[in-house]
Amino acid sequence: MQKILTWIDDRFPLTALWKSQVAEYYAPKNFNFWYFFGSLALVVLVMQILTGIFLTMSYKPDATKAFESVEYIMRDVAGGWFIRYAHSTGASAFFIVVYLHMFRALLYGSYRRPRELLWIVGCFIYLALMAEAFFGYLLPWGQMSYWGAQVIVNLFSTVPIIGDDLGIWIRGDYTISDVTLNRFFAFHVIAVPLVLLILVAVHLMALHEVGSNNPDGVEIKDTIDPATGHPVDGIPFHPYYTVKDLVGVVVFLIFFAVVVFFWPDGGGYFLEANNFIPANPLQTPEHIAPVWYFTPYYAMLRAVPSFLSSQFWGVLVMGAAVVMLFFLPWLDRGKVKSIRYRGSRYKGWLVAFVISFLILGYLGVVPVTVWGQFGEKVPVLATADKATVVARVLTVVYFLFFILMPWYTARDKTKPVPERVTA
Ligand code: HEM
Repeated sequence: MQKILTWIDDRFPLTALWKSQVAEYYAPKNFNFWYFFGSLALVVLVMQILTGIFLTMSYKPDATKAFESVEYIMRDVAGGWFIRYAHSTGASAFFIVVYLHMFRALLYGSYRRPRELLWIVGCFIYLALMAEAFFGYLLPWGQMSYWGAQVIVNLFSTVPIIGDDLGIWIRGDYTISDVTLNRFFAFHVIAVPLVLLILVAVHLMALHEVGSNNPDGVEIKDTIDPATGHPVDGIPFHPYYTVKDLVGVVVFLIFFAVVVFFWPDGGGYFLEANNFIPANPLQTPEHIAPVWYFTPYYAMLRAVPSFLSSQFWGVLVMGAAVVMLFFLPWLDRGKVKSIRYRGSRYKGWLVAFVISFLILGYLGVVPVTVWGQFGEKVPVLATADKATVVARVLTVVYFLFFILMPWYTARDKTKPVPERVTA
């Protein structure tokens, strides 16, 4: 073995890479629960790619065959049901894990200097993930796939002047059709996964360049042991965190298996009832709602009244809600990074932000009938039922969290930060 390794090392820096990136990569010794979700996101990414490869072996990207090919996978392909449920559950698991991973950054100020670029790459990963989920959802060619895609592509048609052409350009047709299915398949199985893999590689390179933050928000590189040259509060990633993360992975897989084996539709949130009906361009389902991970933004879209007969403003608000995330490193003027040493102002706003995101997520799945039909050109007041009013208030809270951030973080009464991490 040693001879083979030396042979490889003479031609490729394998041992050097292992040492610098894993065995001698020093991570803070005080990682807690919230630090499991990065490695879990990696695990889900690998699972999605593996199950996706096997699904592609039997799936047919053809509007006349797609729905049946998924049924064929479920009923006739050996183990097909497992692969399909693992992939559909994996999509929701990906968003759960990534949302918790992002929340950790808000808790500990992980987006702050020197990790701005790491955060921005993360935001691009989030965008790519949304695109990946959107393209994938059309593939089963069920009612929800079809009408969900119809609604989302129509949003692009609201852009002034070029909107209609843009819609046709995205679909490749006047409605969602076989042409659309084929191109969404191409994006879902190769284009976006490739972008995601590259972004994740850049994410990890940026992380290893600056080093991990930790629950205290203390830079461990500031206290180096002169004898070893390593951070005093750092421990080698391997074996300490490889073993610790493995525990997280096992616990995660237990929850994941319970869903796959006993609750694969996730109560209609992971797989929607309407998607067990083949796509029918002549029959609009009574209630179109996106999958749960998009619903906070969908609620914002519906909360914005259509000015001058256009939903474009709602689309802008929805887009701005995601774009805001990119600016976080420059909006936060706090003297400290971690929530442990922040004052009540930041804590209060963070709670308000999370609650508004969750309730908006709930309002996004409430049937449209209580909102006034989506896309209908109704006067502002007619749509202002209770759910709409609540969604409007929460949308404002969501944006104020970002817009007022320079003000409330700068004035926050912070606690003194220790020089070293508190283990
Ligand atoms: C495919 C999705 C993703 C993967 C595989 C991934 C992977 C990782 C891994 C392995 C780590 C180090 C372990 C940890 O700190 O938990 C990490 C750290 C980090 N990630 Fe991600 N990530 C993903 C998405 C995101 C997104 C969407 C964001 C933000 C928008 C983000 C922001 C961060 C930040 C700020 C850190 C540093 C955290 C700290 O040191 O406290 N990541 N990521």
